[in-house]
Amino acid sequence: MEKLINKVAVVTGAAQGIGASIVERLFADGATVVCLDVNLDKLKESILKIDKTGERAISLKCDVSNQEEVNQVFDQIYEKLGKVDILVNNAGIVRDAFFHKMTPEQWHAVINVNLNSMFYTCQAVIPKTRKQEYGKIVNISSTSSWGNMGQANYSAAKAGVIGLTRTLAKENGAKNITVNAIAPGQIDTDMTRNIPENIKMMGIMLTPAGRMGNPSEVASVVSFLASDDSSFVNGECISVSGGFLMP
Ligand SMILES: NC(=O)c1ccc[n+]([C@@H]2O[C@H](COP(=O)([O-])OP(=O)(O)OC[C@H]3O[C@@H](n4cnc5c(N)ncnc54)[C@H](O)[C@@H]3O)[C@@H](O)[C@H]2O)c1
Repeated sequence: MEKLINKVAVVTGAAQGIGASIVERLFADGATVVCLDVNLDKLKESILKIDKTGERAISLKCDVSNQEEVNQVFDQIYEKLGKVDILVNNAGIVRDAFFHKMTPEQWHAVINVNLNSMFYTCQAVIPKTRKQEYGKIVNISSTSSWGNMGQANYSAAKAGVIGLTRTLAKENGAKNITVNAIAPGQIDTDMTRNIPENIKMMGIMLTPAGRMGNPSEVASVVSFLASDDSSFVNGECISVSGGFLMP
């Protein structure tokens, strides 16, 4: 049951939605979970429900799109806990618009939070995981990486996540590090709550499961990829979409 006992995990975008569910699952698996989010109040409130003592689920404010802040936070984590075994890059935002109407701000905000952030966190962690010869990195991509109307910024970022994942998997596999991605389909969180009902229904109709997914259904796949159950799985992007994406 507690397959992640003595492991230290870091989860970004941990205050709500899929991130909070990932924290809950890794915590139940026995890991010490460092929870990062730009919204510290919300994060503390949410993590308190998982770990009342705050001993094994630690909340830290971090805007993952700011490299300086990321470096400071990871220095703090290494100082306090000595290691990071598992990194889950989950923080993400959307700023949807048709490409011909998309502003540079919308483009850069989404690329910064969804893709550049992974450059920062992985750079903070990979040199040390290479030294300790153990590491599990799970990057949250999206089925939108295959292209989605109104999401040129988000699709580009999430496709970039897959390229980054595969390259890091190739570069670090010999050091007992696995790097995998997950491409969730439509999951019921704040991110999807404001999608117009007719667009949401279209997505559901294209999903053989005939429904949206729950955050816990993504978290259980993270749990697999973060554990030694997946020791020979590397460089994959697993679609968690109720069958929305099938080759
Ligand atoms: N919900 C879906 O249908 C869906 C589908 C595919 C992929 N995803 C991806 O899953 C991940 C989680 O999405 P969600 O649905 O739980 O979204 P959400 O909006 O419910 O939660 C996102 C979390 O990320 C945090 N965050 C945003 N910007 C940040 C920053 N700069 N630094 C640190 N934290 C930041 C937010 O405060 C929030 O807690 C995202 O990467 C998203 O792109 C979601």
